[in-house]
Amino acid sequence: MPHDFHGRVIWITGAGGALGRASAELLAGQGATVIASGRRLEALPAGERIVPLPLDVTSTPAVEAAAGDIVARFGRLDGLVTSTTLPIFGDFLSLDDEAWQKVIDTKLLGTVRLARAVLPHLVAAGRGAIVVLSGRGGIEPSPQHLPGSSVNAALLLLVRGLGAIHGPQGIRINAVSPGPIKSPRLDALNAAGTGAPPRTPLEGPGLPGDVADAVAFLLSDEARFITGTNLLVDGGGRVLS
Ligand SMILES: NC(=O)c1ccc[n+]([C@@H]2O[C@H](COP(=O)([O-])OP(=O)(O)OC[C@H]3O[C@@H](n4cnc5c(N)ncnc54)[C@H](OP(=O)(O)O)[C@@H]3O)[C@@H](O)[C@H]2O)c1
Repeated sequence: MPHDFHGRVIWITGAGGALGRASAELLAGQGATVIASGRRLEALPAGERIVPLPLDVTSTPAVEAAAGDIVARFGRLDGLVTSTTLPIFGDFLSLDDEAWQKVIDTKLLGTVRLARAVLPHLVAAGRGAIVVLSGRGGIEPSPQHLPGSSVNAALLLLVRGLGAIHGPQGIRINAVSPGPIKSPRLDALNAAGTGAPPRTPLEGPGLPGDVADAVAFLLSDEARFITGTNLLVDGGGRVLS
């Protein structure tokens, strides 16, 4: 569904990834000015209405400075999409503290840092929306992906909590949980030896644009009465488990 994001400024982290890039391109195509962040400048999308902004979300000062810079430069910030992750997969007994800490620092704490940096600006404006990319593993854990699955579950709880806290201030916070989506990350997960891809009633895998559509909807005014929830984009895989 086309939405109208003209005049809105939306910040996407993990924008160099398959799903972040698809979201950035869709939102820019629907009129938003998109700030696209990730660590590697060369991996970030750029173009009309897409402004690359290199950032490491494991640095609290860098995240706070980036949020301030965006508001100072563009005069507003309307939305945040966190699509950051590290592809760390493997048997539970083979993953050490360092592997777990990397995933937690990047995806869970990264999202916490971003929300903490952005929310004061949204609260001051009395409006705004955040969409957190979680994952179906947060509900049905994938055996080769327990760090990511655990973080995804934590993010779903965070989204519910933030939705309750900030709804009265006019801010909506929701999660999107992709199932298998055609992407390098899915290839890496399959290469880690997960066996057959998850079964889905709808023919899969899904496409990055399927996730971008869900992100755009939750950011849009059409989702004005939706907060604290989780939208599964998993081809219906949840109903088979
Ligand atoms: N693809 C799927 O099938 C699928 C399924 C379930 C859930 N998801 C979730 O959906 C989201 C997006 O997935 P994806 O497939 O697009 O992942 P992806 O291609 O691996 O992209 C993740 C992006 O995060 C960035 N990143 C990693 N560490 C960072 C850091 N410290 N600071 C800033 N950026 C960092 C990476 O760019 P740099 O290396 O340049 O920083 C990368 O471009 C993730 O949360 C993922 O867990 C995806």
